[in-house]
Amino acid sequence: MNQDIQRVLYTAEDLAAANQRLGRQLAQDYAGKQPIFVCILKGAVVFLTDLMRQIPTELSVDFMDVSSYNGQTSSSGAVKILKDLDVSVAGRDVIFVEDIVDTGITLQALMELFKTRKVKSMKLVAMLDKKMHRQREVQPDYVGLECPDEFIVGYGMDYQDKYRNLPYIGILKPDVYK
Ligand code: PRP
Ligand code: MN
Ligand code: MG
Repeated sequence: MNQDIQRVLYTAEDLAAANQRLGRQLAQDYAGKQPIFVCILKGAVVFLTDLMRQIPTELSVDFMDVSSYNGQTSSSGAVKILKDLDVSVAGRDVIFVEDIVDTGITLQALMELFKTRKVKSMKLVAMLDKKMHRQREVQPDYVGLECPDEFIVGYGMDYQDKYRNLPYIGILKPDVYK
């Protein structure tokens, strides 16, 4: 185990089981459609690649990189686009893919933006749902696992851009970030 990790919260096996369940559900719910999975860089990359391989039905993927003006203003809908999609989502069934929903600021802003893009439908799948610091009324439609009030990294999630490559989700030792 990585020496900066206090303990493993979810093992690779836990994550694989969650992906299998989510994949089965999404394949069922989107059968006969061609949804577009919108992966929010960078954290959601690992989750997307695992999840999509659990879905045998037709789908496409694209990527977006955004930074939200975290907490600075109460005006929701403000999101700075660092990289936009390559394709139009007008008339499409969009599924946002996130590693974690925390305050909800990122997704709330993105959903506001996508309403103006005339999508057919919009859903959100998140591997982790961290509910206790939610600041926006965002609720993932599909949730892999619940997230306790801990500083977690791994499986795409970082601290100072490190630890994204850990194959499990771990709790970071406090002395690493204090
Ligand atoms: C993290 C995470 C989500 C977002 C969730 O991304 O990957 O995208 O924060 O937080 P919120 O619900 O409070 O908005 P981050 O901005 O750290 O970028 P990264 O994915 O590139 O690490
Ligand atoms: Mn992210
Ligand atoms: Mg980050």
